[in-house]
Amino acid sequence: MAPNPAFSLGGCELGVATAATQIEGGRADTIWHRWAATGAAADGSTPEVAADHWNRIEADADLMASLGIKHYRLGLEWARIEPADGHFDEAALGHYRRELRLLRDRGIKPLVTLHHFNDPGWFSESGGFAVEGSHEAFVRYVDRVVSEYAGLVDEWITINEPNVFAYYGYRQGTWPPGRRSTRDMLAALTGMARAHIAAYERIHALQPHAKVGVANHLRVFDPAHARNPLDRAAAASTEYLFQGAITRALCRGRFLAPLVQPRGVRPGTYYDFLGINYYSRDLASGPNLNTASKVAVNDLGWQIYPRGLADLARRYSALYPGPIYITENGTADASDAFRSRYLYDHLKAVADSRLPIERYYHWTFTDNWEWAEGQTARFGLVELDFATQERRVRPSGRFFADVIAHAGVTSDAYQRWVAPSRYRLNG
Ligand code: FCB
Repeated sequence: MAPNPAFSLGGCELGVATAATQIEGGRADTIWHRWAATGAAADGSTPEVAADHWNRIEADADLMASLGIKHYRLGLEWARIEPADGHFDEAALGHYRRELRLLRDRGIKPLVTLHHFNDPGWFSESGGFAVEGSHEAFVRYVDRVVSEYAGLVDEWITINEPNVFAYYGYRQGTWPPGRRSTRDMLAALTGMARAHIAAYERIHALQPHAKVGVANHLRVFDPAHARNPLDRAAAASTEYLFQGAITRALCRGRFLAPLVQPRGVRPGTYYDFLGINYYSRDLASGPNLNTASKVAVNDLGWQIYPRGLADLARRYSALYPGPIYITENGTADASDAFRSRYLYDHLKAVADSRLPIERYYHWTFTDNWEWAEGQTARFGLVELDFATQERRVRPSGRFFADVIAHAGVTSDAYQRWVAPSRYRLNG
């Protein structure tokens, strides 16, 4: 007889995650709006359409509640709240207050991201996070937001994936602000870590019981050939340079080479939960990173590697103990052919890990504007027609709702949604 596929999630609660720029639509003076206006996204689209969420906060909150979702990680657009240096927009502040109330009224607990890949135009013009002292502007914004919403929100993510933003925006130059310099990347990483630490301290001064962390992007880096010492060294050094050193700076205020300890930052503990965004695995061979072959991949060619989630959570929580929040995990699957199996496998890895994983936020709720990919990558539990803005819950969205309702996967749910769901292998 086949083993019973059912399992319980224990203490881990489920939610969904989004980012302001990716769903709101409309205009804002941000680096991504400026960048997309030049036709730079893969399909030439801009964030002005997205999911038109700015005008649909109530209907979207209703849809979320109809799926039984109780936890929602959402982002605020800094440029809407502070469109010019030191000028705060009361209407934008009021809009987000209304949204937070709508969520609360439906029993949905918000986890709010203060910065998710996007700088206001004015902040970027002054050098963004790559400039020394940039944390002061960020903390002024954080202070205003936390003071406004302290009665509605007590869980905060200061910055989403500093390593990804710094790498694509400052080293590779394929994302705004389009810089191509290792020095600038290191400066941006340092600036963001500094901004996080200063924000962490300010939030706790305003709201002592708050829970504050970073959404750290962690990937698995394995050697292409396990017996090749050069590949092993390449995997280890990539891991350290891409995520190890910066996570240490963010969580502990310790800046190890190639980062440099900024003046005025003291080592300490600067997280209340370890936030992990997890998507994929790379193989290192010398200086190159590749995707393994003959493995399950998503629509973007990213390897689907569920055990990596538990492996990374175990390794990093040994360094940074305490509650773990999986702040993002999800997959691009336009036809919803394998999302249910993806969900099952990753949630099973969470359940079997016996780690203190308290939250799992699926990326994402509805399809959205996926940065450089534009409208082409479909990560939603809910399908979005960008032209009509119609939302349709995908089968995987029904499965997710069922997992929430049962605090785990039942045998019936497995048969109905997971058994017919199949991965695709790459070449
Ligand atoms: C993460 C980002 C998120 C989304 C997903 C697919 O790196 O934080 O905004 O783009 O990837």
